[in-house]
Amino acid sequence: MRPLLIAFLAFSSIAFAAEEKVPVDPTTGMKIAPDWEIVRNHCIVCHSPATFLRQRATEANWTSTLEWMQTYGGLWKLDPAVQKTIVKYLATNYGPGDATNYRRAPIPATLMPLNPYATEARLEVEKKKKEGLIPTAAPVVK
Ligand code: HEC
Repeated sequence: MRPLLIAFLAFSSIAFAAEEKVPVDPTTGMKIAPDWEIVRNHCIVCHSPATFLRQRATEANWTSTLEWMQTYGGLWKLDPAVQKTIVKYLATNYGPGDATNYRRAPIPATLMPLNPYATEARLEVEKKKKEGLIPTAAPVVK
């Protein structure tokens, strides 16, 4: 019984240490892991980081969230290498983890009911983009 208990305690403290190791940026709440600043620079322009920090998803689901925002949320086309870096950071640090945190895949557009509000919102975003009120590229950070 004893070796089992010791093994359990050793394992849980390792798991705890691994959890503790990633420092968190006090301003954004983002994990300071490789490439976090690239993600910060692109992803807090329009909304709070809480929008994505509370989510858990695989690379495929993070990618579809980004594509959804590009279609409906005014997010500009990202350089493929930058998009890959962003998705990798998100899936690594905000991946599915345990099943209770997992976010289901988005419902395919073909199965969604028609939403007049979404259509109006999209028209509004497109109009604002034309008027230059919404950025069409990432800000340049020096
Ligand atoms: C050009 C503006 C813009 C930028 C930049 C942007 N988003 Fe969004 N995002 C939106 C809009 C608009 C919504 C919808 C907000 C709502 O429904 O209230 C949204 C919603 C989200 C959601 C919630 C989606 C859901 O299913 O509920 C996530 C997650 C998200 N964004 C992540 C990101 C990430 C990661 C980045 C960095 C690549 C990013 N956003 C950059 C505009 C943007």
